[in-house]
Amino acid sequence: MQKVCVSLMGLILLSFLSSGPCAAAADWREGKDSFRSVCSSCHKTRGEAGRISLNSKTRAEWSAFFSQSPAPVHQQAWGKLDKDGISSLELYFRKHAKDVKELLGCG
Ligand code: HEC
Repeated sequence: MQKVCVSLMGLILLSFLSSGPCAAAADWREGKDSFRSVCSSCHKTRGEAGRISLNSKTRAEWSAFFSQSPAPVHQQAWGKLDKDGISSLELYFRKHAKDVKELLGCG
């Protein structure tokens, strides 16, 4: 009986570990990396497009931007990212949106 109980506990623990926040697919840090590698080729000082100020829009405005289909100029860049990649970018943009009042912490 005790053995069953222990292995059950193990199973429960395992399912917690694999579905915890560490297993989340979208991650703002990943978004930051793709922003650097995919977007900043155009969005830089004296680049093809202007620099993007993440705090120029609210969280809702950024979500609206990422939920629409990309403009023709963006199709190639978006093509380099999968769904999780776009979600990570959205998280990164939302983290620095103009309506975020929290102090930057260790997150
Ligand atoms: C091929 C060059 C190019 C790449 C790569 C690129 N962009 Fe752009 N982007 C543009 C141009 C051109 C505009 C329009 C002019 C401007 O805003 O400077 C623009 C505009 C924007 C805008 C402003 C749109 C608005 O409605 O306010 C955002 C936000 C943006 N891009 C995000 C991104 C993100 C995120 C990526 C990476 C996934 C990216 N761009 C990659 C060329 C590019």
